[in-house]
Amino acid sequence: MRLLNASGCLDALIAPEVAMQLDGFVTKTITPLPREGNAPPRIAETAYGMLNAIGLANPGRERFLSDALPRLALLGVPIWVSVGGFCAADYAETCAALDRDAVAVVELNLSCPNVDEAADSAAEIVAACRRSTSLPLYAKLSAAHPDLGEVARAVAAAGADGLSLVNTLRGMALHPRTLEPVLARGQGGLSGPSLKPVALAAVHTCYAATKLPIVGMGGVVTGQDVVELVACGARDVALGTVLFSDPNAPSRVRAEIASVDLDEVFGTSHKASEVLA
Ligand SMILES: Cc1cc2nc3c(=O)[nH]c(=O)nc-3n(C[C@H](O)[C@H](O)[C@H](O)COP(=O)(O)O)c2cc1C
Repeated sequence: MRLLNASGCLDALIAPEVAMQLDGFVTKTITPLPREGNAPPRIAETAYGMLNAIGLANPGRERFLSDALPRLALLGVPIWVSVGGFCAADYAETCAALDRDAVAVVELNLSCPNVDEAADSAAEIVAACRRSTSLPLYAKLSAAHPDLGEVARAVAAAGADGLSLVNTLRGMALHPRTLEPVLARGQGGLSGPSLKPVALAAVHTCYAATKLPIVGMGGVVTGQDVVELVACGARDVALGTVLFSDPNAPSRVRAEIASVDLDEVFGTSHKASEVLA
């Protein structure tokens, strides 16, 4: 099991000591052109988790390739580049520009709740990227789809090598007195512990549907959370919102699972389902 960060939850150039505790660093999603993201406030804390409406703020493909990526390579940690866009060609062009020597894996962000949906389907985007790169492609899906297993099968057929599950789910918070939305955009993506049951179900469904390698994420705080995602079929696990409050989480979580044989745990929740069926 590799321990990663979730995209957008760690800046390795600002906190290299945290990134160096990981088995791979996943970048913030990169789009073809620079984006400032949404107007503030774009983060809200709720009793149930964090809401963000960052809106894919990033320096854009050219500056990422010329400035950030060479500096990230110096960390000595495998780099996973999260790729975003607004049509299949956007994604494919960025994939084509990524150098095999500098990049370990491409994660296709097919599920950001803070920008308007890409017009092309997840499978079309994966197929276009498959034609443009030989790098391993992980498709990051939203658990909001009513038939997630079907989407997983479609991206697998289009050439995805793995899945990343889950992205945030759309949510909203109101000021208790004025009843106005807290986020300037109105709605944002919910992350943190309340996502864990959603993540377990998504990993369970997609593992059963495809058997593809899965990076499980969503509300991971403890070693037990890691164990449960692995039991549902996650090969690797990513830490997201927890990194904002506990930058030491990668080392802590590793210590918490040190005595667990994760190979033995892998997929065990499926055996339980078979018995129940
Ligand atoms: C502030 C913030 C920014 C995020 N930015 C991205 C992003 O750029 N690309 C992406 O694929 N996911 C992004 N995510 C989603 C996370 O990668 C992750 O899928 C989600 O937060 C669930 O994990 P968690 O509950 O452990 O945070 C972001 C999440 C947060 C909280």
